[in-house]
Amino acid sequence: MKALSSTLILVLLSISLVSAFDQIDLANFSRCLTTQSDGSVPIADAIFTQKDASFQHFYQLRANNLRTLASAVNSKPVAIITALHTSHAQATVICAKRHGLQLRIRSGGHDYEGLSYTSNVPFVILDMFNLSNIDIDMRTETAWVQAGATTGELYYRIAEKSKVHGFPAGVCTTLGIGGHFSGGGYGPLMRKYGLTIDNVIDALLIDADGRIRNRETMGEDVFWAIRGGGTTSFGIILSWRIKLVRVPPKVTVFTVQRTLEQGATELAYRWQQVAPKLPKSLFLRLQSVPINNGGNNKTISVSFIGHFLGKTGKLVRLVDQKFPELGLSRDDCLEMSFVESILFWAGFPNGTSIDVLLNRVQVDRVYYKTKSDYYKAVIPRDGLETLWGTMMDIGKVFVQLNPYGGRMEEISDKETAFSHRAGNLFKVQYTVHWTESDGGICAAERYVEQSRMLYRVMTPYASSKPREAFVNYRDLDVGTNKNSTDFVVTKEYGDKYFGNNFKRLAAVKAMIDPGNFFKNEQSIPPLPTLPSH
Ligand SMILES: Cc1cc2nc3c(=O)[nH]c(=O)nc-3n(C[C@H](O)[C@H](O)[C@H](O)COP(=O)(O)OP(=O)(O)OC[C@H]3O[C@@H](n4cnc5c(N)ncnc54)[C@H](O)[C@@H]3O)c2cc1C
Ligand SMILES: *[C@@H]1O[C@H](CO)[C@@H](O)[C@H](O)[C@H]1NC(C)=O
Ligand SMILES: *[C@@H]1O[C@H](CO)[C@@H](O)[C@H](O)[C@H]1NC(C)=O
Ligand SMILES: *[C@@H]1O[C@H](CO)[C@@H](O)[C@H](O)[C@H]1NC(C)=O
Ligand SMILES: *[C@@H]1O[C@H](CO)[C@@H](O)[C@H](O)[C@H]1NC(C)=O
Ligand SMILES: *[C@@H]1O[C@H](CO)[C@@H](O)[C@H](O)[C@H]1NC(C)=O
Repeated sequence: MKALSSTLILVLLSISLVSAFDQIDLANFSRCLTTQSDGSVPIADAIFTQKDASFQHFYQLRANNLRTLASAVNSKPVAIITALHTSHAQATVICAKRHGLQLRIRSGGHDYEGLSYTSNVPFVILDMFNLSNIDIDMRTETAWVQAGATTGELYYRIAEKSKVHGFPAGVCTTLGIGGHFSGGGYGPLMRKYGLTIDNVIDALLIDADGRIRNRETMGEDVFWAIRGGGTTSFGIILSWRIKLVRVPPKVTVFTVQRTLEQGATELAYRWQQVAPKLPKSLFLRLQSVPINNGGNNKTISVSFIGHFLGKTGKLVRLVDQKFPELGLSRDDCLEMSFVESILFWAGFPNGTSIDVLLNRVQVDRVYYKTKSDYYKAVIPRDGLETLWGTMMDIGKVFVQLNPYGGRMEEISDKETAFSHRAGNLFKVQYTVHWTESDGGICAAERYVEQSRMLYRVMTPYASSKPREAFVNYRDLDVGTNKNSTDFVVTKEYGDKYFGNNFKRLAAVKAMIDPGNFFKNEQSIPPLPTLPSH
């Protein structure tokens, strides 16, 4: 009862805060935006308030996780600014600051905890989606990519210019470049070329005073921090300049699937020893899901999904030598261009036109809760059995293991703010997912608790002190700052996400945003002088 009434008070409070702001300041805030922006593209066309018919549409369209969208009913923004011109983004910073509004920045809206579009204080959303130019220069093999472009568009535009170039980013085709790159996005080229941030050579960043800085004017410390440190603490990424990478005209992909009855446990055990040590040209993911054949007849399906920068013959010989237990045959393999291999990873059927890469918004959204882990030691067979058993109990879950090694261990953990480099065998994603008919938001607590249970049973095997986590797989269970800048409070998640780089990140934050304007539940606090922890 007590909990209920305090929730009610919170709800009422947030409604009254928003509506009070609505009546008194909204017109003034809009005036500020108009004054501060370049009139060549009227900012009025970019402002959506709760009174606008299309507000709900724009709010929901790019909210990827139905769990965080549904639980955000009481945290509606005062306005959404869908910037149509660079100056609209600059004006939003200046005016949000003047009017005491928190800013949330959204590019593709895939944040696992919805931090790009929710807040429990009055806030505005700066939506970067319309700033999505991709400008490729094949002479220098580089490109400028605006924050609102999607990974799919980037792959498509590169393929338009060249069949032998690509970029090492993620495989979901609707990720926003703005959010995805800054946390250290990865995909099937990771073992060959590293992460997105390892191939970024410049950036345009709007700082807390609304000024645009490039690599030279932001300085190497800030440029270091925005590569892997979660850019949202430092400013707004307008665009990244990237170095394209070379890929062969044909790559080969395959899936080999086995159930427990078919020896999946032994293969998964071997995979952990083999996959992180394979040549860089082969990326071999392990993906596992429970299967229920009715009654108590349950099993686990383990898929080994491969991406090879070369042709079938060479691949089959390689796997035969390094991982003969997998029994890979030529019939398992498909040769295709790099851009087609992106469709394969994204789950489109063979033969789908690459035009689907231009679909900018994911349509089949679900409710989910994701957690992540890094592993520095092989999970023993009984650990795998514990994992499978827990997954079968849960039911609606998948667990994905992505191998490290290769290029990832050549880059120092201090080179960028991304600290998970040598010493990691693989990274794991645990995702519990459900739909409206599984209970929707009403059942969220139960499913979230299941994800925590899975995480708990893997404690003995995962990395520890700190138990490392991937910032692109945002998880508020990893710790939150509780609206504080206290170093000890923020260190809880800071160490897990950024390891030994957290202190330097906090020092850089103090340089570029000492007033802590850019903040969220897991942002980097500004700490000019650090306690010696
Ligand atoms: C279906 C799915 C598949 C995924 N697959 C992969 C994968 O293959 N590889 C991988 O690495 N990750 C993957 N991810 C995770 C993904 O990289 C992160 O969720 C990423 O943060 C998404 O970026 P976004 O712009 O789409 O999200 P948003 O929700 O818009 O932003 C994410 C965070 O970045 C901030 N941000 C957004 N834009 C800017 C900007 N312009 N300037 C400053 N801060 C900004 C936001 O405020 C928020 O904190 C996947 C996620 C999903 C949902
Ligand atoms: C309008 O906002 C400006 C800041 O943009 C502030 O200085 C001014 O006092 C506000 N006016 C009113 C009437 O609230
Ligand atoms: C902005 O993007 C939306 C899609 O989200 C599109 O419908 C609209 O036409 C774009 N507006 C402009 C002015 O480019
Ligand atoms: C379990 O299901 C599988 C797949 O449908 C079937 O082959 C097997 O015979 C079943 N086992 C039992 C004990 O029912
Ligand atoms: C995949 O699609 C291509 C054409 O789009 C076709 O030539 C090829 O046979 C297909 N392969 C399989 C295994 O279906
Ligand atoms: C967060 O902290 C700021 C600054 O200390 C304060 O103004 C604000 O009210 C706090 N918000 C919440 C929700 O506690």
